[in-house]
Amino acid sequence: MTTAPPADQPEVDVRPAKRADLLGVYRIETDSFSQPWPFSAFEQYLGNPGFLVALEESVLGYVVADTVSNQGIPLGHIKDLAVRQDARGNGVGTELLRHAIGTLESQGVHAIKLEVREGNQRAIALYRAHGFEQQRTIDGYYDDGEDALLLVRSA
Ligand SMILES: CC(C)(COP(=O)(O)OP(=O)(O)OC[C@H]1O[C@@H](n2cnc3c(N)ncnc32)[C@H](O)[C@@H]1OP(=O)(O)O)[C@@H](O)C(=O)NCCC(=O)NCCS
Repeated sequence: MTTAPPADQPEVDVRPAKRADLLGVYRIETDSFSQPWPFSAFEQYLGNPGFLVALEESVLGYVVADTVSNQGIPLGHIKDLAVRQDARGNGVGTELLRHAIGTLESQGVHAIKLEVREGNQRAIALYRAHGFEQQRTIDGYYDDGEDALLLVRSA
């Protein structure tokens, strides 16, 4: 699906990830995170409607979102989101998050959760702008000891 960009921004296509996208996705993952997911984790999400990529000629970014059962009620979980370093600040992260939320809502979730490093101000600003609110802190969630904020948004 193609979304209309703001007038000063390039058009970004967001669609479900394909196998041919995986190398680009994995490069962004390893450039973006100190504890990257292994390549095989992305392979496992192929075919999941919440694994989306943003593209121009190559992969600009991706999001992995899925649903978990919360006492029988589906809860959305945004598990991974990153944009290629040279493409950040142009609205790609916003588009990916918007599509992920739409996909999860179409799957009937009642709320969406995610974890984010408490020092990741850029990502936290993005999530807050999309209605995510802090539910609690998870002490030492990351391997290097940094705490996570658990953010939740009602669907
Ligand atoms: C977080 C990330 C996905 C945002 O992607 P992006 O394409 O740069 O985001 P956008 O251009 O859509 O900007 C979204 C919001 O992020 C914030 N933001 C963007 N650039 C910023 C900057 N240079 N400084 C501070 N905040 C910034 C703003 O709140 C912005 O909203 P606004 O444009 O309405 O002000 C991207 O920075 C990234 O890949 N970071 C590394 C991986 C990561 O931390 N992922 C999140 C894990 S939970």
